[in-house]
Amino acid sequence: MAPSALLLLPFFAMIVFLSAPAQGHVRCHLATFDVWVQQGDTALFPCFFSQSSVTPRDKKVIWQRVRQGAEDEVVFFKNGEDRADRQNEAFVTRASVGDRWYEEKNASLTLRHILPKDAGLYRCLLLTFPLGPRSPHHCAVVRLDVDTQQIKTVKDPSEHMPTGSVIWGMLLASVIFLIVWGFLLLITYLIIVHPKALQKSSPDIFR
Ligand SMILES: *[C@@H]1O[C@H](CO)[C@@H](O)[C@H](O)[C@H]1NC(C)=O
Repeated sequence: MAPSALLLLPFFAMIVFLSAPAQGHVRCHLATFDVWVQQGDTALFPCFFSQSSVTPRDKKVIWQRVRQGAEDEVVFFKNGEDRADRQNEAFVTRASVGDRWYEEKNASLTLRHILPKDAGLYRCLLLTFPLGPRSPHHCAVVRLDVDTQQIKTVKDPSEHMPTGSVIWGMLLASVIFLIVWGFLLLITYLIIVHPKALQKSSPDIFR
């Protein structure tokens, strides 16, 4: 966990820099989740917390993607009524947090149209201003696994329809089948009812 602690340093530095009066607003216990999603589906990354009755002046939920040896990628950044900013373009239009996330104590991230490259580690951070104790609050770690097998693809019904050549082949086979059966029935009939007629017509075989 040493590298992730290092990655949090800029936040602590920012907190010290702002040195706002401490007021407790948000509380959470770090929860870890494993999320398994089919490629193309929507993933829900859980992030829940509790809050005091005092509504902070400013509140932010930050979803980060944790990458080895690289700067954290901001997935979503929401400040009260503000719209998303600082969002990595890989997640633009795909990521959302509920509009009433603070009131509902639910900062869960919805990530749509999951791509194989989305697989990895994500974390949910909550920030309030004026800053409360132990801010930012690290509330959730989510490990995303993406299944790339296309087992859920719905087949086009027309794929199961026989093509023209198959239909003609089946018709031809049926006709040949009927002709052969008719011929066999005719011979059987002739052997039983008119054995002499056959003897006359094909003397080499039936004599
Ligand atoms: C949390 O919010 C997400 C959408 O942001 C929603 O899908 C989910 O049902 C919510 N969970 C609870 C327990 O309210």
